[in-house]
Amino acid sequence: MKLFSIAMAATFAVMPLVAMAQAPIVIKFSHVVALDTPKGKAAEYFKKLAEERTKGKVKVEVYANSALYKDKEEMEALQLGAVQMLAPSLAKFGPLGAKEFEVFDLPFVFDNTAELHKVTQGPVGQGLLKKLEPKGIVGLAYWDNGFKVMSANKPLKTVADFKGLKMRIQSSKVLDQQMRDLGAIPQVIAFSEVYQALQTGVVDGTENPPSNLYTQKMHEVQKFVTVSDHGYLGYAVIVNKKFWEGLPADIRTTLEGAMKDATVYANDIAKKENDDALEGVRKSGKTQIITLTADERKAWKKALAGVHREQQGRIGKETVEAVYKATGNDPSKL
Ligand code: LMR
Repeated sequence: MKLFSIAMAATFAVMPLVAMAQAPIVIKFSHVVALDTPKGKAAEYFKKLAEERTKGKVKVEVYANSALYKDKEEMEALQLGAVQMLAPSLAKFGPLGAKEFEVFDLPFVFDNTAELHKVTQGPVGQGLLKKLEPKGIVGLAYWDNGFKVMSANKPLKTVADFKGLKMRIQSSKVLDQQMRDLGAIPQVIAFSEVYQALQTGVVDGTENPPSNLYTQKMHEVQKFVTVSDHGYLGYAVIVNKKFWEGLPADIRTTLEGAMKDATVYANDIAKKENDDALEGVRKSGKTQIITLTADERKAWKKALAGVHREQQGRIGKETVEAVYKATGNDPSKL
């Protein structure tokens, strides 16, 4: 009996150790958009691959729709190690002090996805990710969303149509100047608060790719959407450097592989997700969709060329020129 209780006690004593050895490594992955978006779906896909390939040694907890943190807070949470992984929009890196990332906010900087990928999938993109390391962040990949539409309760066809409109933007000096040069008044508002700001008239309009507009139901409170493709919105998937470098090497390699495949998936679905979302807006019958003619788009582009010229010093001439060189497109010269 005595022997039996000693054996039992010994078993219980080692149990926490065994349990500890088997406890999975948890990656909290926080983001601000809906599940049914390119980023939302890619995050879920990464979770699936990471958990399958590490045979449960890693558990990825995805928190969508700003469930954990809003825009600015999530960056702080990552740096503090309260979450391990994020995929913030590229506009969110300027406020962090990585001003070079604001190159992605320049209006009309990419004419199409092929030009974008020359940057995000080439040396310029990789070089930009490296700039995050002194901030305690490792950049793993770029995930596409898409080209932005403009929305308001009046048709936006000419630059003059923007006059005096309060337009929601992300916190970016480049986007601020973009709206001012169109004659609008920019207002920085967290993504999770945009629907309400539009509904209550705190702002008159906004910009985002269709997938974000549709899944946040912004079209229900915006009568007109202009397909202008005037700018790009996409993401960098980032991790807390200390956490990432502290992972067992084999696990990190497996996760890198999962990220590589999730990135291919993200960039494969992004265009269709946005096309389908625009179709959803159209079908809702609540919003009229305006497509700019080539001449109308050119007039916007011309009105916004000054953003390139004036923001170059802030973003960094070297970065801006490297992007123009990679794309073969210099919209400052219009
Ligand atoms: C926004 O704030 O409009 C976007 O950054 C949201 C997102 O993450 O796509």
